[in-house]
Amino acid sequence: AGIGTTIGAIGNTAYLLDRYPEQKARFLSDPEGLARSLAAESLRFESPISGLWRTCSRPTRIGDLDVEPGEKAFAVISAANHDPQVFDRPDEFLVERDWANLPMNLPFGQGIHFCVGMNLS
Ligand code: HEM
Repeated sequence: AGIGTTIGAIGNTAYLLDRYPEQKARFLSDPEGLARSLAAESLRFESPISGLWRTCSRPTRIGDLDVEPGEKAFAVISAANHDPQVFDRPDEFLVERDWANLPMNLPFGQGIHFCVGMNLS
C-alpha cells in the first residue's frame, strides 16, 4: 500500500511544476514555506486516486438520487477536489492556495478504510 499513490503524487507534482512555470517560480521563491501547500495543491489538482467504490449500507439520498442498501456508488474524488462551491478557481493550479478552511484530506479517502499513510505522506 502506498507505493503507486506516492509515485503518482511525486510524478504529478513534478509534471505540474513543469507545466505551470509561473507557479514553479513562485514555489522556488519560498520552497520551505510553500512545500505543504504545494503538496496539498498537487494532490487536489491531480489526485493519484480519482475515485473509490462504496457499497451502500442503508437507504441514502445523494443530491436527488436514492441509493438502496447493497447498491454500489463511485465517489469521484477528482470531481470533489474541483468543486467550485468549495474551491476558489478550482481548475487553476495555485501553489499559494490558502488551505486554512479547505479540506486537505479528500485524496486520502473517507471512513473506516481512510488511508493510514496520510500523515506520513
Ligand atoms: C500521496 C500518497 C497517498 C495517497 C493519495 C493515498 C490514498 C489512499 C486512498 C484514497 C485510500 C483508500 C481510502 C478509502 O477507501 O477510503 C488509501 C488506503 C490505504 N493507504 Fe494510502 N495513500 C497514499 C500513501 C500511502 C502510504 C505512504 C501508505 C503506507 C505507508 C498508505 C497506506 C494505505 C493503506 C494501508 C490503505 C488501506 C486502508 C484500509 O483499507 O483500511 N498510503 N490510500
